[in-house]
Amino acid sequence: MVDLRESWWIGPVEIPTRLALAPMAGVSVQAFRRQGRRFGAGLVCSEMVSCAGIEHRNERTLGYLRVAADEHPLAIQLFGAEPRTMAEAARMVEAAGADLVDVNFGCPVRKVTKTGAGATLLDDPDRAARIVESIANAVDVPVSVKLRRGLRDGSRDCLVVGPRLVEAGASTLTLHPRSAQQMYTGAADHALTAELVSLVDVPVVASGDIVSRAKAQSVIATTGAAAVMVGRAAQGNPWVLEEIVDGSGREPSREEVVAELVLFVRETVRELGERRASGFLKKFYGWYLGHGRFPRPFKQELVVLDSTEEVERRLIAAAPGALELIERLEAEIPSGDDVTLELPVSIYGGG
Ligand SMILES: Cc1cc2nc3c(=O)[nH]c(=O)nc-3n(C[C@H](O)[C@H](O)[C@H](O)COP(=O)(O)O)c2cc1C
Repeated sequence: MVDLRESWWIGPVEIPTRLALAPMAGVSVQAFRRQGRRFGAGLVCSEMVSCAGIEHRNERTLGYLRVAADEHPLAIQLFGAEPRTMAEAARMVEAAGADLVDVNFGCPVRKVTKTGAGATLLDDPDRAARIVESIANAVDVPVSVKLRRGLRDGSRDCLVVGPRLVEAGASTLTLHPRSAQQMYTGAADHALTAELVSLVDVPVVASGDIVSRAKAQSVIATTGAAAVMVGRAAQGNPWVLEEIVDGSGREPSREEVVAELVLFVRETVRELGERRASGFLKKFYGWYLGHGRFPRPFKQELVVLDSTEEVERRLIAAAPGALELIERLEAEIPSGDDVTLELPVSIYGGG
């Protein structure tokens, strides 16, 4: 059995566990990343920020990324198609404190691919390599790339593009072995991850369908990946991260669920402001309160409320013992000055 509590390295950056939390647009807010670190993720990644913001600031966005002291090691993900602006954005990302600059070559969403960014770059290895090279030349921190297997079903393009990106300066690759065409259907084909591992001499991270400790173990054992990345399984369920890392996860009590959700709500309001946060948070209520933890009508009660204060009141009324846990958590979590990155968070993400 592989010990996921072992640390590993991306260039000079030590990653304390073999589990990374996936970047997910519309999900990976600061509260999600900090929580992921607390529950055992060795590496967290921001949502995609757009370097188009450097040239024209008229894109619809979710706001600006804030980085807290307890997120590190943190990768900040960039998407774009122009090597020069990507390099400029990478310098801003580095200045904001990112430990890695991550490049998105996996986003299948049309709004992104039609600009030549995201998964389309898998069809243009020359441009993809130029982007990575110009970023690697612009910053001192390592560059990581997240890619899909290719654009079309059955594609094996990642096996051609991946090694080129390493030559161009990528210090690690994360593969989500679905095609862009597949979006999130079918299964991630980690046989391809094993092939990629055999072709490159940098650590590879396996992303896709890692939902349990058994799956994480088998993917690491059969692919030789340095780490696994967990995405959807961690939505509303940080306990799965503990379980995957060291088998210590267990079904949380209602008080624990409410405490984590209230903390998540408070932090997200702090990051996005009440108006944007109240709509943004609604999907999280279902994610947290599901899994048979609370009766369904309770979630429906919460999503119709207008203010997050009211949501918090109802949550605590449903599990009063949570208050003590919340106080303890808030006392333990360091609060310091956040750094704001002046690049817009894209609402069009995906990978
Ligand atoms: C809602 C959502 C948003 C995502 N956004 C991004 C993104 O911005 N950048 C990225 O590289 N991958 C993104 N992904 C892909 C995930 O990082 C991950 O590779 C994929 O979901 C497969 O892992 P999973 O089966 O553990 O969810 C997103 C996935 C989901 C479900």
